[in-house]
Formats: sequence, structure tokens, C-alpha cells
Amino acid sequence: MKRAYRASLLRFDDAGRPLFDEDGLLVVAPDADGRQRVLDAGSHAAVAPRHPEAAVTHWPGRILAPGFVDMHIHFPQTDIIGAPADGLLPWLENYTFPAESRFAEAAHSEAVAEVFFDELLRNGVTTSLTFATSHVASVQAFFASAQRRGLRMITGKVLQDRHSPDGVRDETAQSLADTESLIRQWHGVDRLGYAITPRFAPTSTDAQLRGAGELAAKYPDTWIHSHVAENKDEVKWARELFPHARSYLEVYNGFGLMRERAVYAHCIHFDDDDRRLMRSTKTATAVSPTSNLFLGSGFFDFEGADRIGYRYGLASDVGGGTSFSPFTTMMAAYYVGREGQTKPGISIAPSELWWRHTGGAAEALGLAGVIGNLQPGCEADFVVIDPKATPLLARKTGLAANLEELLFAMIVLGDDRLIERTVISQALPA
Ligand code: GUN
Ligand code: ZN
Repeated sequence: MKRAYRASLLRFDDAGRPLFDEDGLLVVAPDADGRQRVLDAGSHAAVAPRHPEAAVTHWPGRILAPGFVDMHIHFPQTDIIGAPADGLLPWLENYTFPAESRFAEAAHSEAVAEVFFDELLRNGVTTSLTFATSHVASVQAFFASAQRRGLRMITGKVLQDRHSPDGVRDETAQSLADTESLIRQWHGVDRLGYAITPRFAPTSTDAQLRGAGELAAKYPDTWIHSHVAENKDEVKWARELFPHARSYLEVYNGFGLMRERAVYAHCIHFDDDDRRLMRSTKTATAVSPTSNLFLGSGFFDFEGADRIGYRYGLASDVGGGTSFSPFTTMMAAYYVGREGQTKPGISIAPSELWWRHTGGAAEALGLAGVIGNLQPGCEADFVVIDPKATPLLARKTGLAANLEELLFAMIVLGDDRLIERTVISQALPA
């Protein structure tokens, strides 16, 4: 059965440029798997006559927009948001590893997964590429909950067989066997996807990285998910551990861990050879600005990424990142873009910030045309935004003279209160 939703409508064209219908109509219909997909979208005047039989829900004064895509987040770090530390490595040792060690327990993993998905959806995030922990139980809990909720979600067991304390360190052969059996159990089931997830090169042996690369070749449509070049102490450590690699990034390439659907968080301390390697391998960056500002890691070079031309999108990186809200992340990306002391400072257009957290992020994940947009064929994961959610938002969005001003008012002033509802495509079991 066709359904239609009437409200203002934000979409993107193939080049990532925004399309906005003040009085829009979004028409959806279920596919053979029971997923609602966009059938038609555009101005009410043009679209409505094509679907006279569709039942219409009218949301006056609201904006329909694609569900947000978070390219890098750690569900087990939900409870350590805002843990202060003198940079990445002390933060990992003092807060992250102790918190993650608790995910050996299924009940704890299940409880935190529920909190995590509730929080994502309250903030309008409908897909995330997600770190679990090194424990199989954390992955089982995540996928089971995502499946019950009908979400398009990606995660994987963290691989870390050295330089990690008891409680989170895994064992090389077992970690690779567990990864393969989780791929077979979950990858491609409903809307779930598996990411082969070495934590970062310093906490994996050569044998574990080599095994991860072999699995990535054997299962080419899985994701690869890791961290690189986030913090200067981390880069120095990686260079000491892998002295023969040209750069930290090259370590991953040497083990077959750069390809389409490979995603690396941060990518701050890069040179142009690294950027060219990202481009030639079709590898993507998850830009994580609130995390980089909170941990004092540095500033992602947007101008450098665009000059060389490689894939990237936005990410919260909770719990190094400080907010689940895509509005906070987009605002922080703007601040980081403006920073002009360590790199060229640029002003990223509001519509580009928005695209980098929806359609652009989906494209960087290899999911263009599937999620992140509301063009015909896309899965109908979308948010209903109330641009008058607070007195100041009502005033400021009311004053907007054009789309860029409207989007920027929401980016600068918005948070979870803007998200009135999050609609998920997958029909839930009866
Ligand atoms: N590098 C290795 N592990 C982590 C992590 O959990 N968070 C961040 N931000 N960087 C990392
Ligand atoms: Zn991270």
C-alpha cells in the first residue's frame, strides 16, 4: 500500500546539491522484503496527482529530511561520554578499556545496546558504522537489538591482540575465527552489515592485521573499520612499531586493509601521499570533530581532502565525541573547517555539512542510493523536523531568507529537540 507524507522536503541531487520543496510530498511503498522505499518525491503540486490513491499524512510546518548517517561511533562508550583525559592514549587506558571490559557480559551488552539505539533514534540517526568491543557478546547484543528494531546498522568485533590490558585483549587465532563466524551469522541479514574492526594498528600484531586483510579479501562487501592518524603520540607510537611503512596509513595498506568500504576515523596527521592513497584505494574518512576537539587531537583538513579528492563524511565518535546529535557534529565540523592556523581555513556551506552527514556519508560507506537521501529507490528512513522546536529556533528559522540560512539556523541552534520523530523503513514483525 502506498503512503504519502506532506510537509517541507529536503533531498539531494546526484552531485550532493540540496533540493528543497516548501510544500513537498514523499510517497513510499513496501518492496518485496517489506521495506518502505521512496516511490516518488517532490513538490506536492507535481507529485500528488500521480498518486491519487495514496493515504496522505499531513505534517504542516515540519521538514522531512533523510535520516542521519553516523560514520563512526562506539556503542560501548555511551557511558563514558565526557571523560576528561590528557589526550587519546591516557583516555583509552583510564576510561575506555575499563568500560569496555564489562561487555564480556551479555546482560550488560544488551542493556547498553538498548540505551544506545534509543539515543541514536531520538537524535535522528538511522544508520551508524559502529565499534563494538573485543567481546563476541557485544556484537550479538548489538545486531539482535538492531534487527528487532528493523534498522540498517553495521558493527564488528574489535580486534586487539597486543598492547591492551587483560579484559579487552583478544587472542589472534580465536579473534579471526570469531570474526568469520560473526560475518556468516549476520552480514547481509535483514539490513545488518559486518565491519572487520582492528582497533588501530598499535594494538594488533602483524598476524592479526594480516588475518583481517585476508578476511576483507574473502568477504569483499563487508566493511573495514579502524582509526588512523588521530593524535601525535599515537602516530609516533605507530611509526616505532612499524618502522618499514612509509606512513602510519601505509601500514593498513600493506595488510590489504584499504579498499572500497574501508573507513578510517580521524585522518588528521596526513600528508598528500596519504590523501592520494585514500583516493586511489577508494577508502573513506570518518571525520569526528567533537572528538578531535574534546581530546585535543587536531583539526581535520577539509581543504586538503577536497584538493586531492577522496571520500569522507561526518561522525560523532561517541564516547571520545561529546554528542549523539548530528547538529552538534555539523556545528563542530564547521568550527574545525574554519580553523586556519594549522591548515587552510574554509567555510563549509550548511547544505554541504548536512549532506556530509546524510547522502555523502552513505556514499562514503558504499550505500549511495540505499540510505541518506529521499530520492526514488532509497529506503525510507527519515526524520520529521520541527524547525520551531524552541523559541530561539522559531525566531531564527522564521527569519531565514533562503535554504542555506534555514539549514544553518538549525545546525547552530539545534539539538535532539528538533527531531520530532524518526521513521524507519523496515516493517516490523507483527
Ligand atoms: N584509537 C583507538 N581506539 C580508539 C577509541 O576507542 N577512540 C578513539 N577516538 N580513538 C581510538
Ligand atoms: Zn573512535
